[in-house]
Amino acid sequence: TTPRLIDPFAREINYLRVSVTDRCDFRCVYCMAENMTFLPKKELLTLEELDRMCSTFIGLGVNKLRITGGEPLVRRDIMSFFRAMSRHLESGALHELTLTTNGSQLERFADDLFAAGVRRINVSLDTLDADKFARVTRWGKLEQVLRGIEAARKAGLRVKINTVALKGFNEDEVFELTQWCAANDMDLTFIEVMPMGDLGGEDRVGQYWSLEDLRKHLATKYSLTQLSERTGGPARYERLDETDQKIGFITPLTHNFCESCNRVRMTCTGELFMCLGQEDSASLRDIMRSSASDAPLIAAIEAAIARKPKGHDFDYSRQVEGGKMTRHMSHTGG
Ligand code: GTP
Ligand code: 5AD
Ligand code: SF4
Repeated sequence: TTPRLIDPFAREINYLRVSVTDRCDFRCVYCMAENMTFLPKKELLTLEELDRMCSTFIGLGVNKLRITGGEPLVRRDIMSFFRAMSRHLESGALHELTLTTNGSQLERFADDLFAAGVRRINVSLDTLDADKFARVTRWGKLEQVLRGIEAARKAGLRVKINTVALKGFNEDEVFELTQWCAANDMDLTFIEVMPMGDLGGEDRVGQYWSLEDLRKHLATKYSLTQLSERTGGPARYERLDETDQKIGFITPLTHNFCESCNRVRMTCTGELFMCLGQEDSASLRDIMRSSASDAPLIAAIEAAIARKPKGHDFDYSRQVEGGKMTRHMSHTGG
């Protein structure tokens, strides 16, 4: 029988999110300070170590792997890692290999991703206006991302768009983004901005736009029907009757989805975080390096899962009081 990772609240952990680099070619204003410093490369797990780490989790019952960053596609030779993971798809142990990306390198890698067995990807896109795109990413080129998305669709990848709701920034684009996704047969998920990472003095309270309000705004134009389906992810879904489109809402601040959490996340340095919104972590890198046998690593993973907390406690009042998390989303991979 397959070993299982079960946490203290009887949740089965079958989903691992892996950040393969903390680097990114963009600097989204809610994600990174402009002068963000990155980890020295020697701190990172090598691609071989990433393989060993992920394969160990898969041996313990993880059947869904999402590769994140930073921007995963800026990591040198990352395609060899994707190709290595496809052996677990072929054996049936892994059900899904997915990627969250900013899209900047997709034009180059879309075909290789499909060939490695990737079928769905999530692309972050907060605006369809080239000037605003350059502003929110600090220098990104919208055209390049749109070409990447097109290449991904041509390659046969199903694309989901992730849009962070930002006050005073994309409030006026909700309809346009919705229509654009409907016209191109892409799913769309809105995300509430989370208080993570030091932005170098800027504060995120001003960026926060609750999805409660975004939903009300959508409802002025569309009829929304709440869908009961949960995909094991944090999103709630509603259908827009007019376009027959499914819209996802990820609302860590106004709704809690922790009770059905099925995931843990690993940083590019091999630290395991049991919850995106809690600081507790287990450092797996040195344990893995210390032994040719996987037994100590397996024991450390099991011990970590055994203390997965019940849920996060993101709270903007804490941020105001200086209690915000200093860990960056790009470190843990969202
Ligand atoms: P699926 O799980 O495959 O549906 O994908 P996803 O939507 O979780 O993946 P994606 O990388 O697109 O995540 C979108 C965003 O959701 C992440 O960047 C996070 O901001 C948020 N998110 C994902 N998982 C969690 C979680 O467990 N807790 C919280 N608070 N936010 C999460
Ligand atoms: N709050 C919410 N979403 C964030 N992302 C990055 N930082 C934050 C944050 N502080 C989003 C990106 C991407 C996903 C991986 O996480 O836009 O869609
Ligand atoms: Fe890069 Fe994504 Fe962070 Fe933007 S949100 S800076 S694309 S990791």
